[in-house]
Amino acid sequence: MDSVFIARGSPDAMPIWFVTTASYPEVRKMIGADGCAFADAAGFEPKPGRHLLLPAKNGDRLGGVLFGLEAADDPKDPFLPGRLASQLPDGVYRFANEPGDARLAALAFALGSYAFTRYRKAQGRSVKLDVPQSIDRAELEHIVEGVTLARDLINTPANDMGPAQLEQAARKLAARHAATVSAIVGDELLAHNFPLIHAVGRAAAGAPRLIDISWGGADHPRVTLVGKGVCFDTGGLDIKSDASMLNMKKDMGGAATALALAHLVMSRGLKLRLRVLIPAVENAIAGSSFRPRDIYTSRKGITVEIGNTDAEGRLILADALALADEDKPALVADFATLTGAARVALGPDVPAFFTDDDGLAGELMRTAAAENDPVWRLPLWRPYESMLESKVADINNVGGSQGGAITAALFMRRFVDAPSWLHFDLFAWTPSAKGGRPEGGECQVARALYALLAARYG
Ligand code: BES
Ligand code: MN
Ligand code: ZN
Repeated sequence: MDSVFIARGSPDAMPIWFVTTASYPEVRKMIGADGCAFADAAGFEPKPGRHLLLPAKNGDRLGGVLFGLEAADDPKDPFLPGRLASQLPDGVYRFANEPGDARLAALAFALGSYAFTRYRKAQGRSVKLDVPQSIDRAELEHIVEGVTLARDLINTPANDMGPAQLEQAARKLAARHAATVSAIVGDELLAHNFPLIHAVGRAAAGAPRLIDISWGGADHPRVTLVGKGVCFDTGGLDIKSDASMLNMKKDMGGAATALALAHLVMSRGLKLRLRVLIPAVENAIAGSSFRPRDIYTSRKGITVEIGNTDAEGRLILADALALADEDKPALVADFATLTGAARVALGPDVPAFFTDDDGLAGELMRTAAAENDPVWRLPLWRPYESMLESKVADINNVGGSQGGAITAALFMRRFVDAPSWLHFDLFAWTPSAKGGRPEGGECQVARALYALLAARYG
């Protein structure tokens, strides 16, 4: 995707006037008598999300745009200006007045112009924003690139985004930033002691693998990102229903998120030693599928009884987290479309996160709010560990019918020793379009965590 941003202070860029009920009288003074007359004739009201194209003096071209915002003190959606990009005709635009948070508005504008064009071209649209000078355009550019990368990876269906293609995407990103990559593929996973990744992925036509990216000075603090890369989740033998399976191409959303965040970290040259681990598999059905009541010894040596093959994400993450621990990182963060329960609790927009590090949790809540990249903490409620008990192995991979997001997190907690561990349970999908968020794959929490890392290691 070509950049939406330009910075040339172009005098001919089309002005966008942001208006609220309160500010409309002031803005009317700035758009002139003709503009006011036209707006009145068109019945424009300064309501949130409404827009009006104003004609230039002699009516032969566009003169500007009015766009309604929510009252500044309590906006429901700071990304509302993201609706502009899909509504405006081709051209170069600029903010004629303050849209509240101009950086967020510019970001929403750019993110709202995303289209997934791999299989069907968008209608040649070219809407550009001449960003205000006060904004760090290079950084916004990186963020848009990262989000675009994640959305494209998630939106690409499993027939073109299997474990091998996900590895290719990781290699492409790594090459761009001169990072190193290795991958352990197929039966080599057994030789290198990743039994759970192998068990989950072995039935698929595309071989399972563990992708391992490293970047940055060896003497910097270590930060390791782990992303669930289930390229398609049929549920395995405990097969999903048609409705539950429909969107499971997005089950590598955690991997896409980790790659997007890695892009931000590497683009900005943060002073950290980055590692990205992606267990990439397809949870498929075949004679070689893993089964309910199978028992596997994980990388960490913990024996795991399979209660349900549809709880596959925590299994592949368990082996990847055990590896993550081995070089003693200061921070480990994993990203996963892990449970339906997290969605039931928080809905599609708000990913759940879990950590035992209260300071980190507070820091994350603050950066997430500032970035309009929401997250909400759920508890690692230790008494629920009893729900994961097995009668024949150290642990079962499923808990009971309640508290599913928590028991999934508690399961993974058993495989991590890092002093600071963050686990994100994501949806990675926008079910119906909102400002800055077209329907389809979505990159959640990467911007928030990037802001946190930039504050720590910038
Ligand atoms: N990938 C799914 C979770 C999921 C489903 C995320 C829908 C987002 C939307 C995961 O692998 C899964 O199937 N989880 C099961 C766990 C259960 C078997 C304990 C679930 O949540 O139902
Ligand atoms: Mn599953
Ligand atoms: Zn899954």
